[in-house]
Amino acid sequence: MDRIRIVGGNALNGIIPISGAKNAALPLMIASLLTSDTLTLENVPHLADVEGLIRILGNHGVDIAVNGRREHQDGSYSRTVHFTCRTVADTTAPYELVSKMRASFWVIGPLLAREGQARVSLPGGCAIGTRPVDLFIEGLTALGAEMEIDGGYINAKAPKGGLIGARYTFPKVSVGATHVMLMAASLARGTTVIGNAAREPEVVDLANCLNAMGAKISGAGTSTITIEGVTSLSGARHRVLPDRIETGTYAMAVAMTGGDVTLSGTDITLLDTAIEAIRRAGAEVSAVDGGIRVIGHGDAIRPVDIVTEPFPGFPTDLQAQFMGLMTRAHGVSHVTETIFENRFMHVQELARLGAKITLSGQTARIEGVTRLRGAPVMATDLRASVSLVIAGLAAEGETMVSRVYHLDRGFERLEEKLTRCGAIVERISD
Ligand code: EPZ
Repeated sequence: MDRIRIVGGNALNGIIPISGAKNAALPLMIASLLTSDTLTLENVPHLADVEGLIRILGNHGVDIAVNGRREHQDGSYSRTVHFTCRTVADTTAPYELVSKMRASFWVIGPLLAREGQARVSLPGGCAIGTRPVDLFIEGLTALGAEMEIDGGYINAKAPKGGLIGARYTFPKVSVGATHVMLMAASLARGTTVIGNAAREPEVVDLANCLNAMGAKISGAGTSTITIEGVTSLSGARHRVLPDRIETGTYAMAVAMTGGDVTLSGTDITLLDTAIEAIRRAGAEVSAVDGGIRVIGHGDAIRPVDIVTEPFPGFPTDLQAQFMGLMTRAHGVSHVTETIFENRFMHVQELARLGAKITLSGQTARIEGVTRLRGAPVMATDLRASVSLVIAGLAAEGETMVSRVYHLDRGFERLEEKLTRCGAIVERISD
C-alpha cells in the first residue's frame, strides 16, 4: 500500500492548478444515464472515485471514451470524457459496488426516471457517520414511486406512465438527495417544486448540465428549485466546475506553511465563507485573473472559530484541513461539526504531530502550539488525510502518511502539485 513521505518546513511558492470538482463530476457522470445520446464532460479529474464510477456506470450499460490528456503551461491537465448510454443494460446497482462508493447510490434517480424501476443496494454507514437514505426515499415517494426495502436493497418502481411532478420540501438539507430529485424530476410528468434544496455550487453545476440536455430547471443555487418535466433529454457538452474543496485545501496549506501561491483555474466566489476564515487567520487571499492568489505568513496564524453548515456556510469537507491550520494558531480556536456525527478522526492523528485538541460533543477545542513534529500517521478518510498532509508540511522533520488510497479518491496528483511549489513530498510504493 502506498505511503506519502513529507519533510516539513518549506514555504510554498508557485502555481497550483485546480482540478475539476470530484463532487460535481460524480453526479454529472450519473446524469448520463438519463439520455441515449452522448454526454461529454470536460475537465473531469483523474481520481479513484471517478474511475470507480466509470466502472459502475459501465455495469449499467454506459459506453465511456476518454480523450487524451493534454498538459498545459501551468501543469494542469484537461480530460474530456464521453458517456453514452444507448440502452440501460441493468437497473440493479449491487452491494459490492454501492458499498465502495456512496455516490453510486444516486443512480436510483435516473434509472427510476428512465426505466421506471431500479434496484439499488443501501450504501450502509461510512467512516464519517451513519449517512441514512430516508430523504431519498421520501423525495422519490413524493414523485409517485413505490419504494420498498428488501434484503438490503431498495426496490423502486415508478407509476405506469412514469414519475409525477410534485411539491416536496426536504426536512433537512441533503446534497445527494437534491441531485437525485433534480435528475428524477427532469423526466417526470408535470412540475416539481423542491423546498429546502441544497444550494451547493455542485447542485447548480448539475442543473446547468441538465438544462443543456433539455431539462427545464430554475432556481438552482437557492433553496427552492422548480423542475418542469420533459419527455426526453438529449446529449450535451459541459465543463465540470473547479474543485472548491481542493482550492480551499491548498489555500489553507499556504496559510500554514507561508509563501505565495496562485491557485489557477478556480473561482474565489465558490468558497466565500472558507476564504473569509482563512483571511481572518491571517493569510492574504485575493482574486486574480483566472484564479486566486494566497500569501501566507506561516508563524503568524490567528485563532478563528468555525461551524460547518450547508452551503453557503463553512463546508464540512474543509473542516479537517482548517483544524490542521488552527493547530499552529496563536491562541485557542473552536471547530464545530454539524453535518456528520463522526468527522473528527483526524484529531487523534493530528495529536501524534503534537497538536493539542480536546473534543466535547461536536466541538473541538484547539490550543495552538508553536511547533508540530513529524510522525507516522494514518489517513482515515479523504479530507482527514489531507489535513495530515497540511500539518506535515508545517511540521519539523518527517511525516509518513499511510493508507493514502483515501487521498487518491479526491486529490489529483497531490504530490506533484505540492512538489512543484517547493514542498518535499514523495509517494512511496511498497
Ligand atoms: C455530499 O455528500 C458530498 N459527497 C460530501 O463530500 C459532503 O461532505 C456532503 O455532501 C456535505 O456537503 C459528494 O458530493 C459525492 P448530504 P452527501 O446528503 O450528499 C444527512 C467528500 O469528502 N442525510 O448532504 O452524501 C447525512 O447523514 C464527501 O468529498 C440524512 O439524514 O451528503 C448528513 O448528516 C464526504 N438522510 C447530512 O444529511 C438522507 O437521506 C448531509 O448529507 C441523506 C442525508
